[in-house]
Amino acid sequence: MIKNYHFTRISSTNDYARQIIENESEVIVTADHQTNGRGRKERQWQGDFGANLFFTYAVNHKKIATFKNILSFLTSTSLMVINTLREFAPKTEFIIKYPNDILARNDKDRFKKISGILTEHIFQGNIPLISIIGIGVNINQKEFPPYISSIACSLAQLGYNVNLSTFTNILQDKFEGLYLQDEIELFEKWKSEINIKGKLVTRDGSNKIWKAEEILLDGRLLISSDTDKAIIDDGETIRYGM
Ligand code: BTN
Repeated sequence: MIKNYHFTRISSTNDYARQIIENESEVIVTADHQTNGRGRKERQWQGDFGANLFFTYAVNHKKIATFKNILSFLTSTSLMVINTLREFAPKTEFIIKYPNDILARNDKDRFKKISGILTEHIFQGNIPLISIIGIGVNINQKEFPPYISSIACSLAQLGYNVNLSTFTNILQDKFEGLYLQDEIELFEKWKSEINIKGKLVTRDGSNKIWKAEEILLDGRLLISSDTDKAIIDDGETIRYGM
């Protein structure tokens, strides 16, 4: 059984998990509210009190040596989250945007972000010691601040009335089965959900158009232009048509 910690208010569930995981094997940390929620690329991750899922799973690899491929944490988490969303919102189309955003098609026929995943690993040399996977899912948030309202959405905005504790419990149960999953199968499923191959891609801060060639076995994305090839990892933001 994974040990659970729940807080009414905390700075960040990822930061708390990082503090305690050295003396644990696996933990899940959840909170009603985060005062310093973090997203990728030093961005903030916010949400109304008690409205959304703030969830971190952390594992200490010293104790569990069988699931060594750390990419599997990203692939399995993205799949567990998208599958949970599909259970609660069966009429809505969800996709994974490379590498780890989950988008929902809203009624204006556009995709908006409903969930983000922040994966952090602590290494000793090349050996992963600890993996910390933070998940934010917008559940009952009624409105978003103006700077993200055109790109973010919640299950409530899509017309679903979802009990946050039930959603949390169902996702938590999926983490209990994490190590039973096959890494290659997970990778293939994740790739097919992303469906990026052949799409035109731009990188943050540039208008140059690239073509997505392939997601490599380590999760990085190979892109090409007429003259160059480049490899993108989850530290970079890219744009492409869904
Ligand atoms: C992103 O899309 O940029 C990733 C967002 C991840 C947010 C979650 S909420 C729970 C966990 N705690 C944090 O501080 N961040 C992650």
